[in-house]
Amino acid sequence: MSAPEKTENAPNAFPGKFISVEGSEGVGKTTNLQFVQNYLKSRNIAFILTREPGGTPLAEELRNLLLTHREEPVSEDCELLLMFAARAQHLQQVIRPALSEGTWVLSDRFTDATYAYQGGGRSLSSEKIANLEKLVVASTKPDLTLLLDVPVEVGIDRAKGRGALDRFEQEQLDFFERVRRTYLLRAEQEPSRFRVIDAEQPLVEVQQQIQQALDLWFEQIQR
Ligand code: TMP
Repeated sequence: MSAPEKTENAPNAFPGKFISVEGSEGVGKTTNLQFVQNYLKSRNIAFILTREPGGTPLAEELRNLLLTHREEPVSEDCELLLMFAARAQHLQQVIRPALSEGTWVLSDRFTDATYAYQGGGRSLSSEKIANLEKLVVASTKPDLTLLLDVPVEVGIDRAKGRGALDRFEQEQLDFFERVRRTYLLRAEQEPSRFRVIDAEQPLVEVQQQIQQALDLWFEQIQR
């Protein structure tokens, strides 16, 4: 495979900072999001925690539609558009208002998940996703993205331990291999925004990596 083209991420135009946390199933997002929240609190940062799909009452309804098992096959384009419909609502109601008043946003997933799941997992073209991203997200992109990475088998084993699987979690191994590969490729393409965390390590070590990534990034943005 040829070296991925690197793209620069322009900082968002708002006074608040936007951080997203990404990863495939079973990477430990919930626990590590708690760690990031504690870190931001220790630095006296005013922030909100939100998630995708979801983050507003309407977007949470769309989330339920997306995650629920159904007999009717879901077209890939329908899934993609519902993800972006939820994101449009989330951006307008929650993310942009917070960032514009200087409140930071910590989001459990954002558009990288669409590239990974609908692009990688479902094999939709990245051009199609990029067009919707341009329309819906425009320049409101994360300033920092922590990508929690574990080998797919490890993640799936961890996710299975949590009980009933949703419509995405029931996908097969090769789907999650494509999801992981796409996330890692995006991280290579945007090294200034992404920090890849080896989340297979014991929790203390994972959190040391996150702490170090955040410390360095804070130094960078305070310069
Ligand atoms: P969660 O497991 O992080 O709560 O996310 C719900 C599921 O939605 C997860 O399996 C990933 C999937 N998803 C997409 O397929 N595309 C997206 O754009 C987002 C935000 C999530």
